[in-house]
Amino acid sequence: KILILDFGSQYTQLIARRVRETNVYCELHPYDVDPQFIKAFSPVGIILSGGPASAFIENTPRAPQIVFELNVPVLGICYGMQVMAAQLGGRVESANQREFGYAELLIEDCKLFGGISDRIDSDGQAILDVWMSHGDNVVALPTGFKVVAHNAATPIAAMADEMRQFYGLQFHPEVTHTLQGKTIIEHFVHNICAAGYDWNMPDYVAESISRIQAKVGSDKVILGLSGGVDSSVAAVLIHRAIGDQLTCVFVDNGLLRLHEAEQVKAVFAQNLNMKVIHVDASRQFLEQLQGVTDPEQKRRIIGREFVEVFQKESANIADARWLAQGTIYPDVIESAGSQTKKAHTIKSHHNVGGLPDTLHLKLLEPLRELFKDEVRELGLVLGLPHDMVFRHPFPGPGLGVRILGEVRQEYADLLRQADAIFIEELKASGWYERTSQAFAVFLPVKSVGVMGDGRSYEYVVALRAVQTQDFMTAHWAELPYSLLAKVSNRIINEVRGINRVVYDVSGKPPATIEWE
Ligand code: XMP
Repeated sequence: KILILDFGSQYTQLIARRVRETNVYCELHPYDVDPQFIKAFSPVGIILSGGPASAFIENTPRAPQIVFELNVPVLGICYGMQVMAAQLGGRVESANQREFGYAELLIEDCKLFGGISDRIDSDGQAILDVWMSHGDNVVALPTGFKVVAHNAATPIAAMADEMRQFYGLQFHPEVTHTLQGKTIIEHFVHNICAAGYDWNMPDYVAESISRIQAKVGSDKVILGLSGGVDSSVAAVLIHRAIGDQLTCVFVDNGLLRLHEAEQVKAVFAQNLNMKVIHVDASRQFLEQLQGVTDPEQKRRIIGREFVEVFQKESANIADARWLAQGTIYPDVIESAGSQTKKAHTIKSHHNVGGLPDTLHLKLLEPLRELFKDEVRELGLVLGLPHDMVFRHPFPGPGLGVRILGEVRQEYADLLRQADAIFIEELKASGWYERTSQAFAVFLPVKSVGVMGDGRSYEYVVALRAVQTQDFMTAHWAELPYSLLAKVSNRIINEVRGINRVVYDVSGKPPATIEWE
């Protein structure tokens, strides 16, 4: 297995993804993790990520010294290369010429490159197209290293000490813009570290099932099923392991999408024959939300009511000992990092699975090691329907934050219909897969229209569709006008009470994806 030390680059998770794509297990930890942990982890290789700091400034992050003493190959990427150089006796300086984006490098052969190139120039020199993002440069090599890539702006763009198997890359092999990046990582992991092929989904399923069985024994487990990808995959995996010892609790809060409750019942209770308790708590939720307009207040109420309903239901399940949750690896990394990060709370994103420990249950989180696309792959291996596995994310508070201001039954009903039409047309046109999240938003304002010969005075629906990698930043999707026209037409004709449809053309930032 490979250890990745995180210096805070926005690409660190991508490094982990790329390593796992080569069928090697890896874990990502903060750069200042306990050296004893690193030793006990006994990695076959270590990758140092990029990061925002400057290695020539005192008291900026350094790799634990043990990284260079374990006799395992080390790959430093960007800032990772710079700390490697600084710590092993080289020198780093601020670059005269910063490089951001695409760059062309002249490369020398070494084990890391292993004969790759994007083309050969007229002098027979191998050229590599790479993605750069740096303001500092390594300007003097540590002893034992040679330069294996350069260009005019960056005379030391890659360095190698083939004796000790230490490598540094100033560019980012983990991003897809570096066309040969995947191959470079493969070379590091397989040719240099000789890591075994120990990571693949069918094996993972088998191992995971025996781990769950060993852990849980004959105990009973409960799980809050939302119908989202993570809780659904966790539920099916656990059901494979322990069958009817698992009870799923599905809470209908009245803020779900059209036919969502029925679909969840059909897939899990009927097709998969799982024990699902369906609680219709929509009256309770809507009552509590009456008169409340503040988005954060609405989130708090929805979160609180969910906990209350779930707790009541789980008390009825005699001798449940475990609470299962669909926590995935990015959640684990994020909550580990959040103690040090000081971000402003823009929105409180409580997770539906986030239950208090007053339940006195032990936690079972079988997806803790997986990235989102691995969870999807697992879902497919387990036989979940494609539609469910590739569903857009849906926020825990549901339509509660898509009905602006006060939430009312009438508004929710109108919004559900409009949203279903939008999604149906996106799917029919092939745009659903090309957007990361799409939905309708209910605006509680009335505008004037003319229908037939009469005047109408009805509500407005806004359509939102975005494209994003990580939901931190997003572009509004450039949907074809013909598609927007069709959706608008259908909504106004089919949903009584809506006479105007608008399209949201705001990026994130400055707008957020949800309207509240
Ligand atoms: P924003 O609106 O902050 O959304 O750009 C980013 C992503 O987070 C989702 N989101 C939530 N998810 N509880 C959730 O579980 C929440 O309160 C919540 N608010 C936003 C949003 O749907 C998008 O995917």
